[in-house]
Formats: sequence, C-alpha cells, structure tokens
Amino acid sequence: MSRSYYIAGNWKMHNTRAQSAELAQALVTELKDGKHKYLVAPTFSSIETVSAIVEGTNIRLGAQNCAAEEQGAHTGEVSVLQLKDLGVQTIILGHSERRHTYKEDDVLINKKVKLALKHGFEVILCIGELLEEREAGKVEEVCERQTVKGLEGVDASDLGNVVIAYEPVWAIGTGKTATPEDAEVVHAFVRKVIACLYGDNAASKMIIQYGGSVKADNAAQLMAMENIDGALVGGASLKVDTFVPIAKFKS
Ligand code: 13P
Repeated sequence: MSRSYYIAGNWKMHNTRAQSAELAQALVTELKDGKHKYLVAPTFSSIETVSAIVEGTNIRLGAQNCAAEEQGAHTGEVSVLQLKDLGVQTIILGHSERRHTYKEDDVLINKKVKLALKHGFEVILCIGELLEEREAGKVEEVCERQTVKGLEGVDASDLGNVVIAYEPVWAIGTGKTATPEDAEVVHAFVRKVIACLYGDNAASKMIIQYGGSVKADNAAQLMAMENIDGALVGGASLKVDTFVPIAKFKS
C-alpha cells in the first residue's frame, strides 16, 4: 500500500491573525522533520498571514470553504480565484458544519468540488452521518450518498487531488471518538464506494482521513487501522502541544 498519512488541522472560526501567526510559526518549527503530509486551514481572515509563514515548508495551506461561483454578486462569499491569490492549495468542502448549520446540500457541495478541482486545488471532501442516522442504521447509505454525489462528474484524472474525510457528526467536538474498529468499517466501505466509481487502483490510492475528537491519545490507534490514512483535527489543532503529538504520531 503506497498511501502516506495526511494530518490536517481545521482551525474553524478561531484565532486572530496574531494568534494564527504564532501557531503557524510554531508548527513550522515543530513539524519540519515530520514524516507525514500536513495541512493547516485557518479562518479566511488569517489565510494571508499564515500563507507567508508556511510557504515553502512541508505544511500545506488550506481554506475551510469556497463559493460555488468564480466571481460575481455573492455577498459574503470567497472565490477560488481569491483563495488561489492567497496561496491556498487545498479546500475543505462539505464539512458537517457547512452541511448542517449552513444547509449546504450535496448538489452545492458537488459544484464547489468541481470548481475547486478545475482550478487545480486539492479538495478534502467531508462526509459523515448524524447520530440519528447512525441509530437508524443509515451510516452506509449516508456515506455512500455523500461520496457519490460529492464526486458526481469528477473525472478520474482529477482523483489524485481528492481526499475524503470521514467525520461522524456525533464525534465532532464532543470528545466522543468513534472506536478505531467502528471508523475502520466505514473507511473500508467508503473505499469500496470509490472502487465502484473509479476502480480498485484509484480506490487503493485514495487518502481517507478520520475526523471527530482526534487527540494525541487516540491518534495512533485510529491510524493503525488499514483504511485510516490520516486525521482532520478540529479542537486539538488549535494548540501546538495538542496538535504536534498527533502530527508526529508513531506509526
Ligand atoms: P474536533 O476534532 O474538534 O472534534 O473537530 C473535528 C472536525 O470537525 C475537523 O474538521
């Protein structure tokens, strides 16, 4: 298996520019010898500041969302052209907070995915079920739908720029992590969905991150599972002391 681990920090709506700069600077120092692939996704207003700090390092620069259109009359939105201008390399799309709090549906997310890929970005497509969907036995149905619809119309040649993040909504920010075994079942299933869409070879190369209360003390067990290729970290990505041990977990 040739997949490498990919550890990403989603800073969500936290940190001023000064706080973001301090965190980014410390991560550049701490992770410079890190063995895995890394990313930080600051809030929009801190992207330019962080861009100057991570440029040329082994830490990629991410955004947490983008508009579905390139430009125009879209008050409050940020375009892929503007993100490119800031040095953003990766865009997180379909995060559960976008899906559930801001009511983004699969059609809108798919439009964003295709636009971001067209402009050469890497996309982290987030999928994951609500607690009531899990309790109703709908985990596979939800994850399959979000994966298939999120990637609808995406050409196989663009798949190298796609990462999936499985983030069960009930595990986000709650301190309740999925057990490595439970997460592995879903990751293996999602890889099968990718295989049905694009073939076994593409599926075996797809990076599938886990997200939802990842901490230093559960990261290694999660990533020891065959189909878990990294982590998308929220709360624990906001402090050097909590993110670095995850980023440098021992495989
Ligand atoms: P937490 O790590 O805070 O649970 O957040 C996960 C997440 O939503 C990352 O995108």
